[in-house]
Amino acid sequence: MKSLVIYFSCYGSTEEFAKEISEVVDGDLFRIEPKIPYDDDTNHYEELTEYAKKERDRKILPEIKEYPDVSSYDVIFIGYPMWWYTYPQIIRTFIHNVDLKGKTIIPFNTHEGSGDGGTYKELQDELKDSKVLMGLPIRGENMKYNQKGNIKEWLDSLPINF
Ligand SMILES: Cc1cc2nc3c(=O)[nH]c(=O)nc-3n(C[C@H](O)[C@H](O)[C@H](O)COP(=O)(O)O)c2cc1C
Repeated sequence: MKSLVIYFSCYGSTEEFAKEISEVVDGDLFRIEPKIPYDDDTNHYEELTEYAKKERDRKILPEIKEYPDVSSYDVIFIGYPMWWYTYPQIIRTFIHNVDLKGKTIIPFNTHEGSGDGGTYKELQDELKDSKVLMGLPIRGENMKYNQKGNIKEWLDSLPINF
């Protein structure tokens, strides 16, 4: 049974992470994209951080362009960058709109210091009818410079035969 690796990424680090996972577990990949794209120009980093903060504080749920069909997957990875000490609001949109009941969820994220920021626990609290396994946080910079660290080790340590 194939796994599905779902991710949101603005600047590409989380995408690298997702691709690495999908290669190791031979899983399918799906990129979550907002209907209204975020400004991913690195020269506008501050504007994006301000915008993302508003989005979080006002509990805005940005619309998603297209949803994957998750029905045939038992194991679903969900990946995201840390945004303001939590997951981006678009991940909230996703989990509110997709039926993940009975699925095994494996979170992963990139960050620049916050680790997973408590989001793996938050996911388990939100997804009461799913089983959330231990995730892996990696510094975004480490993905960019191709230091994939212990992704394979982490995947091997999970109680799943990929
Ligand atoms: C809007 C915004 C908020 C961020 N907030 C945090 C944070 O709270 N903690 C942290 O460690 N990194 C934070 N970062 C850094 C990103 O999590 C990090 O650069 C990540 O690897 C970017 O992933 P991406 O390349 O897939 O977009 C933030 C970045 C952005 C753009």
